[in-house]
Amino acid sequence: MQIAIDGPAGAGKSTIAKMIAADYGIIYLDTGAMYRCIAHRVLLQGDDFSDTEKIIKLAQEAEIRFEGEKVFCNGEDVTESIRTPLVSLHTSDVACIKEVRELLVAQQKKIAGDQSVIMDGRDIGSVVLPEAEYKFFLDADVTERAIRRKKELDAKGIEKELASIKQEIQQRDDNDRNRVEGPLVQVEDAIVVDTTGKSIDEVCAAIKKYIDEVRA
Ligand code: DC
Repeated sequence: MQIAIDGPAGAGKSTIAKMIAADYGIIYLDTGAMYRCIAHRVLLQGDDFSDTEKIIKLAQEAEIRFEGEKVFCNGEDVTESIRTPLVSLHTSDVACIKEVRELLVAQQKKIAGDQSVIMDGRDIGSVVLPEAEYKFFLDADVTERAIRRKKELDAKGIEKELASIKQEIQQRDDNDRNRVEGPLVQVEDAIVVDTTGKSIDEVCAAIKKYIDEVRA
């Protein structure tokens, strides 16, 4: 079973995907974390997001590994450090580079292999798992997505104004939708789930109901 979950930032993709993975006993792959690892490496190595060649080299040298909820890049536990607003902001700078995407997509396809998997990202239904039996596109009103992100940041003790979070989310969505390589797209065979005003349990139940009906 292969499940693809795409959608804009803050639509609830990773929370939902983790729950679905646990329910069906399948692997969950957070592809956004992989792009975040590359942006994090660029920040560690001097912050030059205009040097495409250097970014590609850093991506080639990045050994990304998942262990349960933890993410490691070249042996370093980066689980928390790849979630900062600065990394979020710069991840779209690395995610628009063709060679970076090709490299990470190849790794994602390899992880999927023949095993059952659920992946979330922007190009899963279109590029990474185009043959997935189940494709979902999760969306939500931008203000609600910004409020969700603010709650996550507050919980981590990171202070940020709602207005600037909303602006950054819109900027990221624009970047993700308008890039040439692997843009955020709603593929024709994806089921659209609007998570605005819905609880995580409600969204999860709706997705599982759909999967179970198709499998029956
Ligand atoms: O899902 P997220 O917020 O962790 O994603 C971080 C960034 O990575 C976001 O700007 C979109 C990008 N991304 C991507 O281009 N392709 C993916 N498959 C996953 C994430």
